[in-house]
Amino acid sequence: MTDRSKVLVTGGAGYIGSHTVLALNAAGYDVVVYDNLSTGHQEAVLSPARLILGDLGDTEKLTDLLAREQFSSIIHFAASIVVPESVIDPLKYYQNNTIKTTGLILAAVRQNVEHFIFSSTAAVYGIPDHIPVPETAPLAPINPYGRSKLMSEWVLQDVSRACPLFRYMILRYFNVAGADPGGRIGQSTPEATHLIKVAAQTALGLRQELQIFGTDYPTRDGTGIRDYIHVSDLAEAHVLALKNLQDGNGSGIYNCGYGHGYSVREIIAAVQKIGKTRIPTAESPRRAGDPAELVSDPKKIRQDLDWQPDFDDIEKIVESAYHWEKNRTF
Ligand code: UD1
Repeated sequence: MTDRSKVLVTGGAGYIGSHTVLALNAAGYDVVVYDNLSTGHQEAVLSPARLILGDLGDTEKLTDLLAREQFSSIIHFAASIVVPESVIDPLKYYQNNTIKTTGLILAAVRQNVEHFIFSSTAAVYGIPDHIPVPETAPLAPINPYGRSKLMSEWVLQDVSRACPLFRYMILRYFNVAGADPGGRIGQSTPEATHLIKVAAQTALGLRQELQIFGTDYPTRDGTGIRDYIHVSDLAEAHVLALKNLQDGNGSGIYNCGYGHGYSVREIIAAVQKIGKTRIPTAESPRRAGDPAELVSDPKKIRQDLDWQPDFDDIEKIVESAYHWEKNRTF
């Protein structure tokens, strides 16, 4: 009999993983983090969570760990996530994301892990026909990153059909931003390209200027629109997804976003307000593969999981990201 409170979190030293570990610990779970620290930080894994250093490709180490600790559930974050890099080096993405995820699922099924929560992405929708995007929208990723994640979704669904005791939750993240409101952790991913982080760094003088990628989109001010979700609300969605599976409910796929978007210029204005400064900007051509607008339809997660976000406010998101960037210790 597995202990329901024991959860393995791969990639738990990374940005979204570490915030989810805090939420799991607050909800009383006993968490072990498995991370190779390729982009994560040891300092992001706070007690009582335990960190085990290891790569998902190390099948022996992983299998030993699963056999020893008898986890009931796995939350799988560890992945490569930089879209332009995935175009230049697709094999890194199929290897790190699809192949290693498949290896983890195999080890999980063999060790009788019952619940699996998977970090997926809005990138599986590609350039959507309609906004907001429901989970039933066509799946048409336009880059290897999105395809590597979609293939993992299919592996999970096929395995669960064949082994009905193994159930999953696929969470498709929109644009994750912000930091722990208590200032304990934040986004410290090296060379992060995310708009809110880059804008906060520019406001603080850590970067010279912010490039606006595309000013001729068919949007209200010509710049790209995204659905920015606070990382702590996303962390809570993982806890709810896990509880839902543990209560005996079936597998599911959920969009994680708020259902409304902000343009690049609106984000810049919010960061300028919080930082009380002007951000130097340069208008640049569109970035390859960027859709004009990507906004989630969040009805399903709100209804099924009773997800009630606390930080659906762009100023709260920007403030926590700015605060972390200003005071970060790692
Ligand atoms: C993408 C992926 C997402 C992935 C994330 C991190 C898609 C649909 N989404 O999000 O799954 O997790 O990257 O790798 O592929 N922008 C600027 N200047 C900047 C940075 C961004 O103008 O310096 C603009 C972008 O053109 C875009 C918006 O800001 O319109 C958000 O960009 P970003 O934060 O990089 O996230 P996505 O590309 O939307």
